[in-house]
Amino acid sequence: MSVTEAPAETLLYFAYGSNMSSLRLQHATRAPSAMPVGPASVSGYRLAFHKASIDGSGKADCEHTGDLTDRVFGGLFRVPVADIAALDKAEGASGTKAGYRRTEVVVDTDSGPAKAVTYVATNKQPDLLPYPWYIQHVLVGAREFGLPAEYIVAIQRRATQSDPKPSRPTEELSIYATPLLRREVPGDAQAIHELTMLTFEDVPHSVHTEHFIVDQLRIAGALSVSLVVEVHGKLVGHVAVSPVTISDGSSGWYGLGPISVSPAYQRQGIGTLLMNGAISALRAAKASGCVLLGDPTYYQRFSFLGCPELVLPGVPAAYFQALSLADSRPQGTVSYHKAFDATE
Ligand SMILES: CC(C)(COP(=O)(O)OP(=O)(O)OC[C@H]1O[C@@H](n2cnc3c(N)ncnc32)[C@H](O)[C@@H]1OP(=O)(O)O)[C@@H](O)C(=O)NCCC(=O)NCCS
Repeated sequence: MSVTEAPAETLLYFAYGSNMSSLRLQHATRAPSAMPVGPASVSGYRLAFHKASIDGSGKADCEHTGDLTDRVFGGLFRVPVADIAALDKAEGASGTKAGYRRTEVVVDTDSGPAKAVTYVATNKQPDLLPYPWYIQHVLVGAREFGLPAEYIVAIQRRATQSDPKPSRPTEELSIYATPLLRREVPGDAQAIHELTMLTFEDVPHSVHTEHFIVDQLRIAGALSVSLVVEVHGKLVGHVAVSPVTISDGSSGWYGLGPISVSPAYQRQGIGTLLMNGAISALRAAKASGCVLLGDPTYYQRFSFLGCPELVLPGVPAAYFQALSLADSRPQGTVSYHKAFDATE
């Protein structure tokens, strides 16, 4: 079913601020049954953070400009009509002190234009700034819907003000405490670069080019699998998988790595999440197998084994391991993608 064929008992809701984060929108006090449909955008509007909030900050607004070169991006949700009253309340769009007004807009989606409800600010204060945790919600949602990278970067660069209530950021972001494994989306590249660089900074066996390798794999379209883990909306883990070639001509083999978990988050199971996620993705893609270079005591947990019949020139055989995912037993010299030579 396309977005233009919404069942009668539901409404399409265009979220462009913190409600783009489905974990936030699906909170019991908002719209627990809201189902993400896909990305959407509306032209003739601009994104501002000037809606005066009772917590002393600025919240997002989809402000009408009439200029068709302006565009607000967001996420489209299908929301039961029965949840709309609760959502109006959560958005402060009901009662005498209403700060938002529910309205109808025509959004552009992958399957054409669709009518959706959204909330626009009625109480604006242009000098207000958002709190960082609020921007964090918006960014979680923007990544979830794969909004354009430059749009996400512009949100990241928004000026913020510190929240005077010290406990609020933790309370607000507690919904993201469970590590979330997801595919890389546009807008993640810079955070992955920084995470990889930081993770390998003090690793003794590293030549400190891993962040360049990931960048170059992406540029070459060779990131066959790229998964990230977020905690509290922050990217703390990443794994890259790219195709390898084997001198005997075997096909469907991949190399896993670099894999990075931010030092502060290591030994909490995030590496395990990434490893299992990457192996599942390779199985789903009907890969023949996967090789990697690393400490055998760690990778044998994921059934990687030493493989004397496969050679990666210049590295000790004990550290080069393989996992066969099909009935394939290749023999020969393994070559990683040329992006592994990247030094900048
Ligand atoms: C290797 C790495 C991805 C593991 O991530 P993690 O989130 O810490 O791993 P998990 O929490 O799932 O597993 C932790 C367990 O693995 C062990 N472990 C972690 N790294 C290990 C290593 N290099 N060698 C042996 N064991 C290791 C830990 O001792 C811990 O053991 P325990 O469960 O008995 O306490 C992470 O430590 C990392 O980013 N390291 C720096 C970068 C790196 O070396 N990457 C691998 C080469 S590309």
